[in-house]
Amino acid sequence: MSDDTWHQDAVIYQLHVKTFCDSNGDGIGDFRGLIGKLDYLQRLGVTCLWLLPFYESPLCDDGYDISHYERIHPDYGTMADVEAFLQEAHRRELRVITELVINHTSDQHPWFQAARHAPAGSAKRDFYVWSDTPARYAEARIIFSDAEDSNWTWDPVAGAYYWHRFFRHQPDLNFDNPHVRQAVLKVMRFWLDKGVDGLRLDAIAHLYERDGTSCDNLPETHALLKWMRTDMNGRYDKRVLLAEANQPPEELRAYFGDGDECHMAFHFPLVARLLAAFADADRTPIVEILERSTNLPGGCQWALFLRNHDDVSLSSLGARENDRLMAVYAPEERMRLHGGINRRLAPLLAHDPRRIEMAHALLLSLPGTPVIYYGDEIGMSDRLDLADRDGLRTPMQWNDSPGGGFTSGRPIIPLNDDPEWGVNGTNVARAVATPSSLLNRVTSMLTARRGHTAFGRGSLTFVETGDRAVLSFVRAHDNDAVLVVVNLSDRTAALELPLPGYAACHIAGCASGVDVRPAAEHGLTVALPAYGWSWSRLR
Ligand code: GLC
Ligand code: CA
Repeated sequence: MSDDTWHQDAVIYQLHVKTFCDSNGDGIGDFRGLIGKLDYLQRLGVTCLWLLPFYESPLCDDGYDISHYERIHPDYGTMADVEAFLQEAHRRELRVITELVINHTSDQHPWFQAARHAPAGSAKRDFYVWSDTPARYAEARIIFSDAEDSNWTWDPVAGAYYWHRFFRHQPDLNFDNPHVRQAVLKVMRFWLDKGVDGLRLDAIAHLYERDGTSCDNLPETHALLKWMRTDMNGRYDKRVLLAEANQPPEELRAYFGDGDECHMAFHFPLVARLLAAFADADRTPIVEILERSTNLPGGCQWALFLRNHDDVSLSSLGARENDRLMAVYAPEERMRLHGGINRRLAPLLAHDPRRIEMAHALLLSLPGTPVIYYGDEIGMSDRLDLADRDGLRTPMQWNDSPGGGFTSGRPIIPLNDDPEWGVNGTNVARAVATPSSLLNRVTSMLTARRGHTAFGRGSLTFVETGDRAVLSFVRAHDNDAVLVVVNLSDRTAALELPLPGYAACHIAGCASGVDVRPAAEHGLTVALPAYGWSWSRLR
């Protein structure tokens, strides 16, 4: 297995420094606190950490509004702390992916402040995208349409409108300006020089604007990515680019280029299909989307996730399905945001431990690199009373002490205080001590997964189960073949798989009621309890 393709075997853990652990009692998580929790992450069995933005920022979009790319937000520590963190993570063979947010900056960024005061047409003004009229690029979708009614905002200082695909305090950089391209390359090199192993390219679909287009996925954007990748390849080994683009699989695939753009891309459409499949106990949407997601260039891989720090959008399912499933998963208005569902994984699955475990069994066996959102491994819930997406981003729940083990002080970001799913009822200390806890189940899944390269690198072949509620597939790589069977329904399942001549050797599965064995000439018989799952090695 080549070290150059480490991302194919990786299991990524997504976290926010600010909400993970506070070392100095000021109520805000920091790098020193995170260092103290690396042993926990290593024991869990993840191999790579993805950190949400920790740069200097007015924090109007939780750090995705950067005011200095090469400085740390002082709440989280110093550059020396970041360097110590990288060293400590690497010492434990944990890789680190950080955010490269280049579509936009904060309006507090010195580039924007200089731009608005600079003469129209100057290189400084043209760091951003300006117009005399808000009518331009009208085909571009407004992403936060519940917060903004235009992608243009009037700036009285410049006497012109500036372009922004997200909040109005996040002006978009102008990639037609060669100075912008160089500035962004410098930021990329700065963090790669620090030793980060990969960069998540935030909002990467929206870099360029062209009349008469949606301003998404433009050829110019792909050319820029190839240019960045070439620079990266020329200077650094073993680093990866991870594309964040909420697009259909066909558009997403373009972000791999011919193996010369991104190494990984988040599979957004799969999340909506998983939720559809879970709601209806029907594997069909998962199978259909994965059949549209094959043939990636060598060394490229999907990044799979169940939930992340943003609302989940079901719009890729079409308007009718979107509305139907919104009613299932977000029946109340306060569960909805930016057109999507503002909930964590556990409440989406009704806090049913069998369903949450089954979802993880899929996340960890479908083709791609799994990404676990912090807290989902203990079944953490959300808070519906916090602004924007903050309810998905409450502090990690370590134990039932007053600060939840997150802080010895007063948490600046409120903890989840629900009696059952908040810090008192749901926390790491309790999960560690409970043999059947989700945490212990996920930990053992990750242990089992490590023994088989097929999970990360294998081909995908669906197996007919004769039951729409049961999804089965084989992942095969070299001499390793793993059979996965998952029951999406609340009924027990008994079926025969057409795999004549094979024997199945148990790797991992739900706690009880699972049985996979050869049946005379037909293949394998499988029995699964409600929401049961099984991984076995095929011989
Ligand atoms: C990405 C981030 C999201 C942020 C947006 C604007 O979608 O995931 O949290 O608000 O970009 O930067
Ligand atoms: Ca702190």
